[in-house]
Amino acid sequence: VIPRFRPLIERAELVAMLSRGGADDRARFEAAFAQAIGSRHAIAFPYGRTALRLLLESRGIVGREVIMPAYTCVVVAHAVVASGNRPVFIDCGADGNMDLDLAEQAMSANTAAIVPTSVFGHSVDLDRLDALRTRHPGVLVIQDCAHSFTCEWHGRAVARAGHAAFFGCNISKVATSIFGGMVTTDDPDLATALRGARDLRLSRPGPARAFSQALYAFGAALAFHPSFYSLTDALRRTGMLTRLERYYDEQTIEMPADHLVDITRLQARVGAVQIGRLGDFIAARRRYAHYYHERLEAHPGIRFLPASHGSSYSHVAALVDDRERICARAHARGVELGRVIDYCIPSMPSYASVPQGRAWPRACHFSRHVVNLPLWGRFEEAVANRVVSCVVDALSGAAHAPQIA
Ligand SMILES: Cc1ncc(COP(=O)(O)O)c(C=O)c1O
Repeated sequence: VIPRFRPLIERAELVAMLSRGGADDRARFEAAFAQAIGSRHAIAFPYGRTALRLLLESRGIVGREVIMPAYTCVVVAHAVVASGNRPVFIDCGADGNMDLDLAEQAMSANTAAIVPTSVFGHSVDLDRLDALRTRHPGVLVIQDCAHSFTCEWHGRAVARAGHAAFFGCNISKVATSIFGGMVTTDDPDLATALRGARDLRLSRPGPARAFSQALYAFGAALAFHPSFYSLTDALRRTGMLTRLERYYDEQTIEMPADHLVDITRLQARVGAVQIGRLGDFIAARRRYAHYYHERLEAHPGIRFLPASHGSSYSHVAALVDDRERICARAHARGVELGRVIDYCIPSMPSYASVPQGRAWPRACHFSRHVVNLPLWGRFEEAVANRVVSCVVDALSGAAHAPQIA
């Protein structure tokens, strides 16, 4: 079975895990990250959601509204709530990203921040964002780049188009520090405030933590290795891996118990190696995306979400009708199709009590119809070719893909 993603924890990462390292491992990781993104500062956190939480806290933002997409990873909303603020959910546009016109309509005197998100690595429209920022200079702009490491809008880095950007570096992300998150910013005062918040709020990791992280990373490398993935897939189907994979509970708003524990040196060393490979990872993802687009675009059973030229493709996203059936058929032919965001956050039970008064038809539509085609940081034509032929097979006799609406 071809997995929908594969972490590339390989020789260099294993060497980094086994090396002794030193007290400046975290600072080195941050410097490499800042350089890769082209930002002045990078500050590491144990999760992307911790990064967002402390970013809001360090600016003294509390009891305010934070504008964010309805169609994104639910843990972003959890971080906003954990920071003592209220998420205001906005429907998406055709590309899956938050509709910035709707975002602007939702702004009020109580709006403190907006979280533009290049979902699936589809670049946010920075021209529209610029216009919005000019009209609302007091609103903090925090780019969620967890899906969009080095994504660009007409040559401009999305991560630098705001006061700060945050990233997620868990094992499924474009580059990983096993778990982890990062904030980048060009603002020295914000960087200093964030470092202060980190010193104050995060506890030091215990001695066993690096060891368990190494085991987890090693296990993930094995589990996703082509020789073992069919076994992993079989185990997953028994439900045995659910505990490892589940990252949210429909019913509750919660942060992980360890979200205020600093990263280990081991994580920093792995992260630094991965960031050194980022250019290759992104180039490979773009190749998969172009390969799939070229060969499947004309098929009536599948419709790709439009993505602008500088997109960096954490995922390749397309709409299909009768998604569960198509996924089952693709799986029977040896290809796993992802359903990465299969919810519209404000429709989840955990957010039922958040006052809304708006609608999210597109986010709901996408949450039911989007599939994610397999890709990872190394382009393998044989894999891409097999994905295309299995998807074509799985789509035979299928209804036309739904409109983007
Ligand atoms: C779009 C998006 N933003 C933020 C995050 C948060 O990252 P983390 O899981 O490190 O908290 C994720 C994680 O999956 C994500 O997909």
